[in-house]
Amino acid sequence: MYLHRYAQLFSSLLPLGGAAIPPSYTIDIHSHIIPDFYREAMINSGYELRNESVLWADGTPIPEWTIQEHLSSMDANGIDYSVLSISAPGVAFLHGNPIAVDLSRRVNEYMHNLTLLHPKRLGAFCLLPLPNVEASLVEIDYCIDKLNFAGVGLFTNHDGHYLGDAHLDPILERLHERNIPVFVHPTVPKCWHTVSHGIVPPMLEFPFDTTRAIVNLFFSGARKRFSNFTMVFCHGGGVLPYLADRVATLSAIPRFGGFDRKEAETQFRSYHFDLASATSVSQLAALKEFVGVDKLLVGTDFPFVPGPRGKAFIQGFQEDGVFTDQEVRRIKHGNVLGILPRVKAKIGA
Ligand SMILES: *[C@@H]1O[C@H](CO)[C@@H](O)[C@H](O)[C@H]1NC(C)=O
Ligand SMILES: *[C@@H]1O[C@H](CO)[C@@H](O)[C@H](O)[C@H]1NC(C)=O
Ligand SMILES: *[C@@H]1O[C@H](CO)[C@@H](O)[C@H](O)[C@H]1NC(C)=O
Repeated sequence: MYLHRYAQLFSSLLPLGGAAIPPSYTIDIHSHIIPDFYREAMINSGYELRNESVLWADGTPIPEWTIQEHLSSMDANGIDYSVLSISAPGVAFLHGNPIAVDLSRRVNEYMHNLTLLHPKRLGAFCLLPLPNVEASLVEIDYCIDKLNFAGVGLFTNHDGHYLGDAHLDPILERLHERNIPVFVHPTVPKCWHTVSHGIVPPMLEFPFDTTRAIVNLFFSGARKRFSNFTMVFCHGGGVLPYLADRVATLSAIPRFGGFDRKEAETQFRSYHFDLASATSVSQLAALKEFVGVDKLLVGTDFPFVPGPRGKAFIQGFQEDGVFTDQEVRRIKHGNVLGILPRVKAKIGA
């Protein structure tokens, strides 16, 4: 009994979540499944196949995916655990109709099955049939209470409804009341046809949309009202670290809103960011200064970023000389275990 208590105390004092976790243990918070039935739903709703078999959605080619390749890519890249999600466009292309509701449920049960088959390797973020708010509230509770998911996946906008728009307040309210961790993936803005000029949207529109959602959460006051949950944004926060000061400064001008500049900065720095496609020395240095090491997480963006390039991200942030070995360890697993208690429980940390 005494020993047991001592062990508990000791593990609670360890910053990395317990002696069982080796230093290299790596958790990927950003990787995607693309099951066949989901791909078929996209094709059925009118997304085109180019060159006979390559599916394109909103200006972006959708790669082939199998769980076998997913797991072998994890092995090849030294990733011990992945939290799965659906990438853009989610199910927003179905506008919250009954097919969207059924498709989200099927995707969530499919991910649940994978987490049961590979309990020490895979977790999941819940897919919601937004912009259908009522059905999404049901899905949040189902994923959290019945499927034991790590958290909920959202997009920067859902069929044009941005995080921070009043339409989505009931969703944020539920996440706030239940303290549910959220992973926010970017998607295209409605205007992408007119602005992208043939440049694939993930290159510019995704990081811009991430920034737009974060700024909208501030201007709408939504994040201030619903702050009782962790939010992870992708790709180093888009262009936020670079623009945060400009936004905060301008927002304080009375005719631009008259907001509290310090409050804007504090809120922008409260988010977590993954490092998928954000591991250049300048990005890492900006992120380290802007949010600090404790808010940074590993993300590969598999299979949109194929295995070898994902590996380069993971090597990149370790070898760029921006972080110490201790800091690399926090980024690899310490930080994420601090915000995803269910992952921590499942891997026995
Ligand atoms: C179209 O498919 C053919 C056969 O698979 C391939 O050789 C060709 O490179 C593809 N073209 C494009 C533009 O992807
Ligand atoms: C999940 O697994 C159960 C049991 O094997 C199966 O009946 C169900 O069809 C699976 N669901 C999905 C969406 O794959
Ligand atoms: C924050 O979440 C916890 C856990 O669900 C809950 O007990 C608490 O009431 C929440 N706080 C607020 C202000 O809603």
